[in-house]
Amino acid sequence: MSVYDFDTILERHGSSSAKWHQIVEEMGQGNEDVVPLSVADMEFKPAPEIVEAIVEAATHDVFGYDYATDDYFAAFTGWMARRHNLAVDPDAVRLSDGVMPAINTALRAVTHPGDKVIIQRPVYYPFTFACERNGLTILDNTLRLSDEGRYEMDFDDLEAKAADPRCTAILLCNPHNPVGRVWTADELRRVGDICLEHGVTVLCDDIHADFAHPGHRTVMFSSLGERYANNAFEFTAPTKTFNLAGLLCSNAIIPNPELRRRFDVAAENIGGLTVSHFGLVACQAAYNHAEPWLDELMVVLQRNLGVIRDFAARTDGIRLIEPEGTYLAWLDCRGLGFETPEAQCEFLRGKARVFLDEGSMFGQCGDYFERVNLACPTALLERVLDRWSKALSER
Ligand SMILES: Cc1ncc(COP(=O)(O)O)c(C=O)c1O
Repeated sequence: MSVYDFDTILERHGSSSAKWHQIVEEMGQGNEDVVPLSVADMEFKPAPEIVEAIVEAATHDVFGYDYATDDYFAAFTGWMARRHNLAVDPDAVRLSDGVMPAINTALRAVTHPGDKVIIQRPVYYPFTFACERNGLTILDNTLRLSDEGRYEMDFDDLEAKAADPRCTAILLCNPHNPVGRVWTADELRRVGDICLEHGVTVLCDDIHADFAHPGHRTVMFSSLGERYANNAFEFTAPTKTFNLAGLLCSNAIIPNPELRRRFDVAAENIGGLTVSHFGLVACQAAYNHAEPWLDELMVVLQRNLGVIRDFAARTDGIRLIEPEGTYLAWLDCRGLGFETPEAQCEFLRGKARVFLDEGSMFGQCGDYFERVNLACPTALLERVLDRWSKALSER
């Protein structure tokens, strides 16, 4: 029996949602019928337990400068132990207003302008911005798509790139956005070994860690062993997990004291990393009280995955890359035969009235792919896919 409401389609027009506003920004006024399943936040209200904690704080608290209390750390470390089997030392944790600010800070801590950094495209596009804006050259260790539709790391290429003397860091994404791989312990260990051998620091973005689908388990990079942990930054946040992105709170785990010191210096050099009062309150409540909400959400995501799996199976030219984790679906639409990725995008927005994250955003190897956000009521997903089917049948 469900306790929480994952069925109501929320009215988001006129809200401050960046995802819904993107339609006006990119398509102009008069396109209110277009549905976005793009930006990675959810079309669900937060767990009531989190809302209660925020209301309580709004009623009673004073909003001066904050620090993360022992209770906060107990909530965070408890979560990591329970859900990820990882013992986290609170002294090794650095809070910030987001994973991307923390990643940018870590890049500044371990690289110099002109250095090279490995990323694995197709990948969350702010990784590209983070490198470019910090004066770093990207080495793209492109993921390989097997004939069976599974993305794999190209370890020979990774080894060659890591051996470049100017290569100082790698940005990993686990589970990987957008392709949905949950990297195995063996894969992560191979990456870790290559990086240790060549003096490359690992920056592992685990923001989707809580979304491993049945049969898969997110392995925390720093759980691989001390020597791997000492060469790594691990970026986590409850903001994807509990749909709290607007509240700004994330936790970087930095087991190595020297990397931590460099991170702290880099953070001071940009005026310090901050975290908001309501971010702390909400995240603490989420870790302590919202686990049943997440467990129910995972069931909804499985249902939605089934819906998009059926859609892909009955649609010529579209193949679902079966995700092992995240709440995103990566669709290979090359078989639809559009002349250009732009034409495919124009068709989706103009004819199907659906706004997705086009694959090209994640790198050229994502051309003609589409990323669909499954964290929405099933009826909304069905509406989007029906529109897409209808538009294709009329093409
Ligand atoms: C892989 C990945 N990292 C980071 C972020 C953004 O994190 P934050 O909002 O905490 O900066 C996202 C958001 O979609 C993401 O998918």
